[in-house]
Amino acid sequence: MHWLRTVTALREHVAAWRGSTVGLVPTMGSLHEGHLSLIRRCRQECEVTVVSIFVNPLQFGPAEDLERYPRNLEADRAMCEAAGVDAVFAPDPEEMWADQGSGADRTWVMPPDSLLKTLCAPHRPGHFRGVATIVLQLLHLVQPQRAYFGQKDAQQLAILQRMVEDLQLPVTLVPCPTVRDPDGLALSSRNQYLSTSERQVALGLYRALRRGYEHWRAGDPSAEGILAAAQAELSRYPQLQLQYLELVHPQTLQPLQRVDSQGLLAAAAYVGQTRLIDNLLLSVT
Ligand code: PAJ
Repeated sequence: MHWLRTVTALREHVAAWRGSTVGLVPTMGSLHEGHLSLIRRCRQECEVTVVSIFVNPLQFGPAEDLERYPRNLEADRAMCEAAGVDAVFAPDPEEMWADQGSGADRTWVMPPDSLLKTLCAPHRPGHFRGVATIVLQLLHLVQPQRAYFGQKDAQQLAILQRMVEDLQLPVTLVPCPTVRDPDGLALSSRNQYLSTSERQVALGLYRALRRGYEHWRAGDPSAEGILAAAQAELSRYPQLQLQYLELVHPQTLQPLQRVDSQGLLAAAAYVGQTRLIDNLLLSVT
Protein backbone atom coordinates (compact mmCIF):
# COMPACT_ATOMS: atom_id res chain seq x y z
CA MET A 1 0.00 0.00 0.00
CA HIS A 2 1.29 3.45 -0.91
CA TRP A 3 1.25 5.98 1.91
CA LEU A 4 1.17 9.43 0.29
CA ARG A 5 1.59 12.60 2.35
CA THR A 6 2.15 15.13 -0.43
CA VAL A 7 0.36 16.31 -3.57
CA THR A 8 3.57 15.71 -5.55
CA ALA A 9 3.70 12.05 -4.50
CA LEU A 10 -0.01 11.63 -5.23
CA ARG A 11 0.32 13.12 -8.73
CA GLU A 12 3.05 10.63 -9.65
CA HIS A 13 0.74 7.75 -8.77
CA VAL A 14 -2.28 9.29 -10.50
CA ALA A 15 -0.20 9.41 -13.70
CA ALA A 16 0.74 5.74 -13.30
CA TRP A 17 -2.91 4.70 -12.76
CA ARG A 18 -4.07 6.20 -16.06
CA GLY A 19 -6.05 3.56 -17.97
CA SER A 20 -7.25 1.81 -14.77
CA THR A 21 -10.59 2.36 -13.02
CA VAL A 22 -9.78 4.44 -9.97
CA GLY A 23 -12.15 4.70 -6.99
CA LEU A 24 -11.86 7.28 -4.21
CA VAL A 25 -13.16 6.98 -0.64
CA PRO A 26 -12.83 10.42 1.02
CA THR A 27 -12.67 10.31 4.83
CA MET A 28 -11.56 12.31 7.85
CA GLY A 29 -9.93 9.22 9.35
CA SER A 30 -10.60 7.50 12.69
CA LEU A 31 -11.84 4.74 10.46
CA HIS A 32 -14.61 2.33 11.50
CA GLU A 33 -16.80 -0.32 9.87
CA GLY A 34 -18.84 2.39 8.11
CA HIS A 35 -15.74 3.61 6.27
CA LEU A 36 -14.66 0.02 5.66
CA SER A 37 -17.97 -0.77 3.94
CA LEU A 38 -17.25 2.04 1.46
CA ILE A 39 -13.72 0.73 0.94
CA ARG A 40 -14.97 -2.82 0.29
CA ARG A 41 -17.54 -1.60 -2.21
CA CYS A 42 -14.84 0.44 -3.95
CA ARG A 43 -12.54 -2.57 -4.14
CA GLN A 44 -15.31 -4.65 -5.72
CA GLU A 45 -15.95 -2.07 -8.44
CA CYS A 46 -12.57 -0.48 -9.14
CA GLU A 47 -9.07 -1.61 -10.09
CA VAL A 48 -7.40 0.96 -7.85
CA THR A 49 -8.80 1.97 -4.44
CA VAL A 50 -7.62 5.28 -3.01
CA VAL A 51 -8.61 6.44 0.50
CA SER A 52 -8.08 10.05 1.51
CA ILE A 53 -7.67 10.91 5.19
CA PHE A 54 -7.92 14.62 5.90
CA VAL A 55 -9.55 16.34 8.87
CA ASN A 56 -10.71 19.26 6.79
CA PRO A 57 -10.52 22.57 8.71
CA LEU A 58 -12.68 24.27 6.04
CA GLN A 59 -15.80 22.38 7.17
CA PHE A 60 -15.56 23.06 10.92
CA GLY A 61 -17.18 26.15 12.45
CA PRO A 62 -15.24 28.26 14.99
CA ALA A 63 -17.14 26.66 17.92
CA GLU A 64 -16.92 23.12 16.58
CA ASP A 65 -14.68 20.17 17.44
CA LEU A 66 -11.78 20.57 14.95
CA GLU A 67 -9.10 20.37 17.65
CA ARG A 68 -10.85 17.58 19.50
CA TYR A 69 -11.80 15.52 16.41
CA PRO A 70 -10.27 12.02 16.85
CA ARG A 71 -7.08 11.40 14.89
CA ASN A 72 -5.61 7.87 14.71
CA LEU A 73 -3.39 7.85 11.63
CA GLU A 74 -1.41 4.75 12.59
CA ALA A 75 -4.53 2.69 13.31
CA ASP A 76 -6.11 4.01 10.09
CA ARG A 77 -3.04 3.00 8.13
CA ALA A 78 -3.19 -0.56 9.50
CA MET A 79 -6.92 -0.81 8.73
CA CYS A 80 -6.42 0.38 5.15
CA GLU A 81 -3.53 -2.03 4.67
CA ALA A 82 -5.62 -4.95 5.99
CA ALA A 83 -8.57 -3.91 3.78
CA GLY A 84 -6.42 -4.09 0.64
CA VAL A 85 -6.38 -0.36 -0.13
CA ASP A 86 -3.91 0.54 -2.91
CA ALA A 87 -3.04 4.05 -1.75
CA VAL A 88 -3.84 6.41 1.12
CA PHE A 89 -3.57 10.15 0.57
CA ALA A 90 -3.13 11.77 4.00
CA PRO A 91 -1.98 15.37 3.47
CA ASP A 92 -1.32 18.04 6.08
CA PRO A 93 -3.38 21.23 5.61
CA GLU A 94 -0.32 23.02 4.17
CA GLU A 95 -0.43 20.58 1.25
CA MET A 96 -4.00 21.54 0.44
CA TRP A 97 -3.69 25.33 0.39
CA ALA A 98 -0.90 27.87 0.43
CA ASP A 99 -2.41 30.01 3.20
CA GLN A 100 -0.84 28.61 6.36
CA GLY A 101 -3.70 29.92 8.46
CA SER A 102 -7.35 28.94 8.32
CA GLY A 103 -7.52 28.62 4.54
CA ALA A 104 -10.33 31.20 4.60
CA ASP A 105 -8.89 33.34 1.80
CA ARG A 106 -9.29 30.91 -1.06
CA THR A 107 -11.61 29.83 -3.87
CA TRP A 108 -14.76 28.16 -2.56
CA VAL A 109 -17.46 25.93 -4.00
CA MET A 110 -20.86 27.30 -2.92
CA PRO A 111 -23.68 24.74 -2.83
CA PRO A 112 -27.05 26.02 -4.11
CA ASP A 113 -29.19 27.93 -1.56
CA SER A 114 -32.09 25.51 -2.03
CA LEU A 115 -30.00 22.69 -0.49
CA LEU A 116 -28.92 24.83 2.46
CA LYS A 117 -32.37 25.67 3.85
CA THR A 118 -33.05 22.46 5.78
CA LEU A 119 -31.44 19.79 8.00
CA CYS A 120 -27.87 20.48 9.18
CA ALA A 121 -27.08 23.52 7.03
CA PRO A 122 -28.85 26.23 9.09
CA HIS A 123 -27.17 24.84 12.23
CA ARG A 124 -23.70 24.63 10.70
CA PRO A 125 -23.18 27.79 8.62
CA GLY A 126 -20.36 27.33 6.12
CA HIS A 127 -20.05 23.59 6.75
CA PHE A 128 -21.23 22.34 3.37
CA ARG A 129 -19.27 25.02 1.53
CA GLY A 130 -16.20 23.53 3.23
CA VAL A 131 -17.21 19.98 2.33
CA ALA A 132 -17.97 20.77 -1.32
CA THR A 133 -14.73 22.72 -1.68
CA ILE A 134 -12.50 19.97 -0.31
CA VAL A 135 -14.30 17.17 -2.12
CA LEU A 136 -13.95 18.98 -5.46
CA GLN A 137 -10.26 19.47 -4.71
CA LEU A 138 -9.81 15.78 -3.83
CA LEU A 139 -11.69 14.68 -6.95
CA HIS A 140 -9.49 16.93 -9.03
CA LEU A 141 -6.29 15.64 -7.41
CA VAL A 142 -7.11 11.91 -7.52
CA GLN A 143 -9.20 11.96 -10.75
CA PRO A 144 -11.30 8.89 -9.87
CA GLN A 145 -14.04 7.52 -12.11
CA ARG A 146 -16.04 6.63 -9.00
CA ALA A 147 -16.25 8.08 -5.49
CA TYR A 148 -17.97 6.47 -2.50
CA PHE A 149 -20.11 8.26 0.10
CA GLY A 150 -22.27 7.11 3.00
CA GLN A 151 -26.02 7.62 3.17
CA LYS A 152 -25.43 8.42 6.85
CA ASP A 153 -24.52 11.95 5.71
CA ALA A 154 -27.54 12.30 3.45
CA GLN A 155 -27.39 16.08 3.02
CA GLN A 156 -23.68 15.90 2.17
CA LEU A 157 -24.48 13.27 -0.45
CA ALA A 158 -27.31 15.34 -1.99
CA ILE A 159 -25.10 18.45 -2.13
CA LEU A 160 -22.15 16.60 -3.67
CA GLN A 161 -24.43 14.92 -6.20
CA ARG A 162 -25.70 18.36 -7.26
CA MET A 163 -22.10 19.63 -7.48
CA VAL A 164 -21.21 16.78 -9.82
CA GLU A 165 -24.25 17.54 -12.00
CA ASP A 166 -23.91 21.34 -11.98
CA LEU A 167 -20.16 21.32 -12.69
CA GLN A 168 -20.42 18.32 -15.06
CA LEU A 169 -17.66 16.43 -13.27
CA PRO A 170 -16.56 13.18 -14.94
CA VAL A 171 -17.18 11.05 -11.85
CA THR A 172 -19.97 8.78 -10.58
CA LEU A 173 -20.86 9.14 -6.91
CA VAL A 174 -21.85 5.85 -5.32
CA PRO A 175 -24.20 6.10 -2.30
CA CYS A 176 -23.59 3.38 0.32
CA PRO A 177 -25.99 2.28 3.09
CA THR A 178 -25.49 3.33 6.72
CA VAL A 179 -23.63 0.77 8.83
CA ARG A 180 -25.02 0.39 12.35
CA ASP A 181 -24.13 -1.38 15.56
CA PRO A 182 -26.39 -4.39 16.27
CA ASP A 183 -28.64 -2.20 18.48
CA GLY A 184 -29.15 0.30 15.63
CA LEU A 185 -26.76 3.13 16.55
CA ALA A 186 -25.19 4.49 13.35
CA LEU A 187 -21.40 4.17 13.43
CA SER A 188 -19.63 7.52 13.66
CA SER A 189 -16.12 8.63 14.56
CA ARG A 190 -17.81 10.91 17.12
CA ASN A 191 -19.32 7.91 18.98
CA GLN A 192 -15.92 7.68 20.70
CA TYR A 193 -16.90 10.79 22.67
CA LEU A 194 -19.90 9.02 24.26
CA SER A 195 -19.87 7.53 27.77
CA THR A 196 -21.74 4.24 28.30
CA SER A 197 -24.84 6.02 29.60
CA GLU A 198 -24.69 8.65 26.81
CA ARG A 199 -24.57 5.85 24.26
CA GLN A 200 -27.93 4.57 25.55
CA VAL A 201 -29.38 8.06 25.15
CA ALA A 202 -27.94 8.32 21.63
CA LEU A 203 -29.91 5.23 20.65
CA GLY A 204 -33.09 7.27 21.09
CA LEU A 205 -32.29 9.09 17.85
CA TYR A 206 -32.36 5.88 15.82
CA ARG A 207 -35.40 4.53 17.67
CA ALA A 208 -37.34 7.73 16.95
CA LEU A 209 -36.52 7.56 13.22
CA ARG A 210 -37.49 3.91 13.23
CA ARG A 211 -40.86 4.71 14.83
CA GLY A 212 -41.51 7.32 12.14
CA TYR A 213 -40.53 4.84 9.46
CA GLU A 214 -42.81 2.13 10.87
CA HIS A 215 -45.69 4.57 11.08
CA TRP A 216 -45.23 5.27 7.37
CA ARG A 217 -44.96 1.57 6.56
CA ALA A 218 -48.19 0.98 8.45
CA GLY A 219 -49.98 3.17 5.90
CA ASP A 220 -49.93 6.85 6.92
CA PRO A 221 -48.05 8.89 4.26
CA SER A 222 -48.58 12.27 6.03
CA ALA A 223 -45.56 14.17 7.32
CA GLU A 224 -47.64 15.17 10.34
CA GLY A 225 -48.27 11.55 11.32
CA ILE A 226 -44.72 10.37 10.62
CA LEU A 227 -43.11 13.23 12.56
CA ALA A 228 -45.55 12.85 15.47
CA ALA A 229 -44.69 9.15 15.75
CA ALA A 230 -40.97 9.95 15.83
CA GLN A 231 -41.55 12.77 18.36
CA ALA A 232 -43.45 10.42 20.65
CA GLU A 233 -40.41 8.16 20.84
CA LEU A 234 -38.07 11.12 21.32
CA SER A 235 -40.04 12.25 24.35
CA ARG A 236 -38.85 9.06 26.08
CA TYR A 237 -35.28 10.42 25.92
CA PRO A 238 -35.31 13.76 27.76
CA GLN A 239 -31.49 13.91 27.80
CA LEU A 240 -31.46 13.97 24.00
CA GLN A 241 -31.31 17.64 22.97
CA LEU A 242 -32.97 17.60 19.59
CA GLN A 243 -31.66 20.08 17.01
CA TYR A 244 -34.03 19.11 14.22
CA LEU A 245 -36.34 16.35 13.05
CA GLU A 246 -37.39 16.82 9.44
CA LEU A 247 -38.97 14.97 6.56
CA VAL A 248 -37.60 16.11 3.20
CA HIS A 249 -37.12 14.91 -0.36
CA PRO A 250 -33.82 12.94 -0.49
CA GLN A 251 -32.45 14.83 -3.52
CA THR A 252 -33.99 18.33 -3.40
CA LEU A 253 -34.06 18.39 0.45
CA GLN A 254 -37.34 20.33 0.28
CA PRO A 255 -39.80 19.66 3.13
CA LEU A 256 -42.50 17.12 2.25
CA GLN A 257 -46.16 17.20 3.26
CA ARG A 258 -46.50 13.50 2.50
CA VAL A 259 -44.32 10.61 1.34
CA ASP A 260 -45.66 8.90 -1.74
CA SER A 261 -42.59 7.42 -3.42
CA GLN A 262 -39.62 8.57 -1.34
CA GLY A 263 -38.67 10.66 1.64
CA LEU A 264 -35.76 11.25 3.97
CA LEU A 265 -36.51 11.29 7.68
CA ALA A 266 -33.50 12.91 9.32
CA ALA A 267 -32.56 14.19 12.75
CA ALA A 268 -29.68 15.74 14.68
CA ALA A 269 -29.30 15.92 18.44
CA TYR A 270 -26.79 16.67 21.13
CA VAL A 271 -26.00 14.01 23.71
CA GLY A 272 -24.00 15.96 26.26
CA GLN A 273 -21.35 17.79 24.19
CA THR A 274 -21.57 15.39 21.25
CA ARG A 275 -23.60 16.20 18.18
CA LEU A 276 -25.00 13.16 16.36
CA ILE A 277 -26.96 12.83 13.12
CA ASP A 278 -28.94 9.98 11.64
CA ASN A 279 -31.56 9.37 8.96
CA LEU A 280 -33.72 6.73 7.33
CA LEU A 281 -34.84 6.59 3.72
CA LEU A 282 -38.55 6.04 3.22
CA SER A 283 -38.75 4.47 -0.21
CA VAL A 284 -41.36 2.29 -1.88
CA THR A 285 -38.80 0.46 -4.01
P1 PAJ B 1 -16.21 11.13 7.50
O1 PAJ B 1 -17.17 11.58 8.55
O2 PAJ B 1 -14.91 10.54 7.91
O3 PAJ B 1 -16.97 10.11 6.59
C1 PAJ B 1 -16.36 9.60 5.43
C2 PAJ B 1 -17.40 8.84 4.63
O4 PAJ B 1 -17.84 7.72 5.41
C3 PAJ B 1 -18.64 9.70 4.31
O5 PAJ B 1 -19.07 9.43 2.99
C4 PAJ B 1 -19.64 9.21 5.34
O6 PAJ B 1 -20.99 9.36 4.93
C5 PAJ B 1 -19.26 7.74 5.44
N1 PAJ B 1 -19.75 7.16 6.70
C6 PAJ B 1 -19.56 7.62 7.97
N2 PAJ B 1 -20.21 6.85 8.86
C7 PAJ B 1 -20.83 5.88 8.15
C8 PAJ B 1 -21.68 4.77 8.49
N3 PAJ B 1 -22.02 4.50 9.74
N4 PAJ B 1 -22.14 3.98 7.48
C9 PAJ B 1 -21.81 4.25 6.18
N5 PAJ B 1 -21.01 5.28 5.80
C10 PAJ B 1 -20.53 6.08 6.76
O7 PAJ B 1 -17.95 12.76 5.65
C11 PAJ B 1 -16.78 13.12 5.83
O8 PAJ B 1 -15.86 12.38 6.53
C12 PAJ B 1 -16.23 14.43 5.26
O9 PAJ B 1 -17.27 15.38 5.22
C13 PAJ B 1 -15.59 14.27 3.85
C14 PAJ B 1 -16.62 13.78 2.82
C15 PAJ B 1 -14.40 13.30 3.92
C16 PAJ B 1 -15.08 15.65 3.38
O10 PAJ B 1 -14.15 16.17 4.27
